[in-house]
Amino acid sequence: MFVPGSHSGPETTAGSGDRLSESSGYLDSSRIAVMNATVNEESTTAKHEIYREALREIDAVLEGVDDPITAMSTCACILHQRLSAASWTGFYRVVAPRLLRVGPYQGPLGCLEIPFDRGVCGAAARERAPQVVADVHQFPGHIACDEGARSEIVIPIFHPDGDLVAVLDIDSHQPAAFDDIDREGLERVAERLRASLGGERAAFYSA
Ligand code: SME
Repeated sequence: MFVPGSHSGPETTAGSGDRLSESSGYLDSSRIAVMNATVNEESTTAKHEIYREALREIDAVLEGVDDPITAMSTCACILHQRLSAASWTGFYRVVAPRLLRVGPYQGPLGCLEIPFDRGVCGAAARERAPQVVADVHQFPGHIACDEGARSEIVIPIFHPDGDLVAVLDIDSHQPAAFDDIDREGLERVAERLRASLGGERAAFYSA
């Protein structure tokens, strides 16, 4: 366990004798594999915990809220604060047949409108399915609102009546920042959000 103030050099994170092969001074491959597995396991656990905490906070703050703008703003804020890899976190709403328009978000200026036939957001809306893009430069039609973006995840948001009303979009400057844990966590956020979408449907979107 990390004790504040006790860090006195790299050898405190693991015994130096454990990290280097005593004969050669190099790590052997079996030890590297064990270390990488440990790192992946730790980051997986950390991600699960981040989504658990984010959902707990969203549940607490949105209890009794049925205003979609309040709900989307709150989710964008909580997710952006908690997901350290996120460079842009927000919503595009369905405002006309096959047209998305930007909604509440955190991050640099996003593009205002996205037709269903363009970009990662358009693909999520068209297919009514999550998109997890490890390298946005390989995604045909990706819209670069932010030139630093490298990876992206988009989750469709459905009204309780089953209509698509928006997509939740998160960009990252890190390549391959998102995986199945993010998709599952964000689908739970979308599910939670659905409960807050009923109240002002007509005022919020018109499709
Ligand atoms: N990259 C998205 C556009 C939205 S911005 O990234 C905020 C896309 O290709 O749909």
